[in-house]
Amino acid sequence: MAASASSGASNFLLSLALASHLASIAFAGSFYQDVDITWGDGRAKILNSGKLLTLSLDKSSGSGFQSKEGYLYGKIDMQLKLVPGNSAGTVTAYYLSSQGTAHDEIDFEFLGNLSGDPFIVHTNVYIQGKGNREMQFYLWFDPTKDFHTCSVLWNPRHIVFYVDGTPIREFKNRESAGVPYPKKQPMKVYSSMWNADDWATRGGLVKADWSKAPFTASFRNFNANGCVWSSGTSSCSSANDPWMWQELDSTNLERLRWVQKNYMIYNYCTDVKRFAQGLPPECSMS
Ligand SMILES: *[C@@H]1O[C@H](CO)[C@@H](O)[C@H](O)[C@H]1NC(C)=O
Repeated sequence: MAASASSGASNFLLSLALASHLASIAFAGSFYQDVDITWGDGRAKILNSGKLLTLSLDKSSGSGFQSKEGYLYGKIDMQLKLVPGNSAGTVTAYYLSSQGTAHDEIDFEFLGNLSGDPFIVHTNVYIQGKGNREMQFYLWFDPTKDFHTCSVLWNPRHIVFYVDGTPIREFKNRESAGVPYPKKQPMKVYSSMWNADDWATRGGLVKADWSKAPFTASFRNFNANGCVWSSGTSSCSSANDPWMWQELDSTNLERLRWVQKNYMIYNYCTDVKRFAQGLPPECSMS
């Protein structure tokens, strides 16, 4: 996947940067320190001395957890391995959200499917309680065989959704053009697994097969490189972290276009039927 145009020297620098990044992940802490299990009555489990977390879903309940800290801007990574085999009707959600009715939210939702059929990655951005900004994708790999990294970059310039470091979606800050942008409410990281067999798989046509329950998804290497928000102040005073001002370079823009051209299956910005009164304003801005 590495860009073949890179010179040996920059590859070397890249591997140094990667090595230090991996080191910081290795000491990133444990789920015992970083999250609270919030519901599911024993269906969410922290295992391997805090290195692994599993969520499960059966006919009577799903389960979920949330981060202890809230962030106002950050680069948040988590590795997920989705429900193997027949996962039809299940949704595994992984998202950032603030509290209250006019909340902001940055969403990944993984909609399960029959064995061998593709998951849908559903994304959305809510600003001050209003969503309706869905984009959906297929993945270019089987997300049930191994762990894959889902990241959200949220800084003053944009929100970027990444899968294994590849940007799949960018939501730019266009406040100057009158489009709202989340920037005042700290968000926590949440994940949950639930039964959505009334809509998730082929629009609800394929139901969950409860004889295969419990359905289980796994999580590891939670790494939040963010501005921790606590009692009204941010841990980022000078905001010198590189992610704070990071933009997509030409290589990343090319990868974003590659994903959107080959794997995007729904884009609210092209749904003229739904937005008969006119597409949202950000849709006509490049
Ligand atoms: C499930 O598989 C079907 C058939 O390939 C596909 O149309 C659908 O988009 C897939 N994903 C979901 C979540 O329904």
